[in-house]
Amino acid sequence: MRLSRFERRILGAIVAVALVTLGGALWFGQGAVSEAYAVGVNQRVLDQLRSSLEVYQRHFVALREDAERTADAVAYDRRAQRAIDASDDAALGAFAEDALDRYPNVARVVALDPDGRERARAERAARLDEDENRLLVLERPAGDGGRFSVTLATDWEPFRAHQRAAELVEVYAQLVEGATYVSGFYTAVYIAFLLSVIIVALAVGIVVSRRVTRRVAVLASATERVGRGDLSVEVASDGKDEIAELTRAFNAMVRDIRTSRDRIEYLQRIGAWQDFARRLAHEIKNPLTPIQLAVQQVHRTYQGDDPRYRRTLDDAAAIVEEEIATLRRLVGEFHEFARLPVAALEPAELTGFVERALRGLEPEALLGEAAPTASAPALIVEVDERPTPVQIDAQMLRRALDNLVRNAVQAVAAAAPDGGGRVVVAARRDGASAVLEVRDDGPGIAEADRQRVFDPYYTTKSDGTGLGLAIVKKVVLEHDGSIECVAAPEGGACFRIRLPLAPEAA
Ligand SMILES: Nc1ncnc2c1ncn2[C@@H]1O[C@H](COP(=O)(O)OP(=O)(O)O)[C@@H](O)[C@H]1O
Ligand SMILES: [Mg+2]
Repeated sequence: MRLSRFERRILGAIVAVALVTLGGALWFGQGAVSEAYAVGVNQRVLDQLRSSLEVYQRHFVALREDAERTADAVAYDRRAQRAIDASDDAALGAFAEDALDRYPNVARVVALDPDGRERARAERAARLDEDENRLLVLERPAGDGGRFSVTLATDWEPFRAHQRAAELVEVYAQLVEGATYVSGFYTAVYIAFLLSVIIVALAVGIVVSRRVTRRVAVLASATERVGRGDLSVEVASDGKDEIAELTRAFNAMVRDIRTSRDRIEYLQRIGAWQDFARRLAHEIKNPLTPIQLAVQQVHRTYQGDDPRYRRTLDDAAAIVEEEIATLRRLVGEFHEFARLPVAALEPAELTGFVERALRGLEPEALLGEAAPTASAPALIVEVDERPTPVQIDAQMLRRALDNLVRNAVQAVAAAAPDGGGRVVVAARRDGASAVLEVRDDGPGIAEADRQRVFDPYYTTKSDGTGLGLAIVKKVVLEHDGSIECVAAPEGGACFRIRLPLAPEAA
């Protein structure tokens, strides 16, 4: 899986935040452990306690050594040796009694002969109390093969103290071990928890940033296509976030560029056609008058009496007159097209303009030469009650409206020569634009032709010039408007003009 820079940055941020959290938590945790140390639950104190047990141990060793020395001192006393050598049991008893006086830690002295029989015995009952004292019996050989048994008494207290201390150290050792274990355990659990949080955050981060980057990448490639001049791009923009907004703005921008490019292209094309129309009008118009005059003169000056030739001349003169009239009309249209003025926009109210423009307009007068005898369709006006303020050149827009109505009347009359058809002119507000529509119930225009009907010289009529809609479109573009050809609800064609609403009302 390759990550984009944006994705790497987001994931880096997630990891950084997680690590800072982890570090902080461990630091505070460490603080808590130090706190425990400060209170005294730690290994050093434990070691200290253990070494104090050793002090007891050494004390016990010293006590034992002292006991051994005392036993030696008693057994190897010269008086004792003499009493044994002399087999003087009384002296031996006196010696033993004496030893008890001399050594306060000796509790009993017993002298035994080689057969183990008792020769003498001396003891202190108080010292022999086992509740008070810890008793240790040491034996030493006597000179004649007999033995001395010396019982030494040591106060129980240091042993008991040692016992208690040892128990305490044991308890404390568990405490220290527990504290270390507890903090270690919690650290491990915490790290594991945080790691799983990091993993989940990374997964979520990848998914979220993937969604964003994928859509940004789509936009980027669309931008590239626009850069290469492809203005047909449209990026799907579902959702409500900033990227969807950006996408919608992008689409609107491309649409605007497309519209203005189409507009520029159309105006350039129209400009070229206007040049052509001007030259054509000029070239045709000049020879018309001499031709007409010459034919008239030939017609007038014939004095002969050949009736057949006379008739031929009459016919020729009539045909020439007629064709010249047609040519003059074409020249007039070319001329009009070539010299379309620049629109001079003035504030006006669209519905009022439409009513004025259509008042006194006779559909019959618009029928044209191809079907002069057909019944004209009814002309219906549908205007919005709300005022629709616009900026228009009334004279030019009137000519455009005239051309549209003329086309509609002719199309309807051609399809229904016996009448009954209708042409609707509608004006209304629609959002930020004013709409002017000319609709009819005629044959309509095939989908494939709806673009090129606006091309100059495109016509399907025998007497048409194909200039009418070109003039209309040029006029509309000069009004900063747009025009489209769609299917009319009435069944025929619908030409829809959109003009910007005037600022004060928009
Ligand atoms: N209302 C309409 N219904 C059907 N076809 C139409 C209509 N308006 C225009 N057209 C078609 O568009 C062509 C071009 O119209 P236009 O530019 O006015 O030239 P012209 O009227 O001289 O033919 C017409 O020849 C016709 O085929
Ligand atoms: Mg026309």
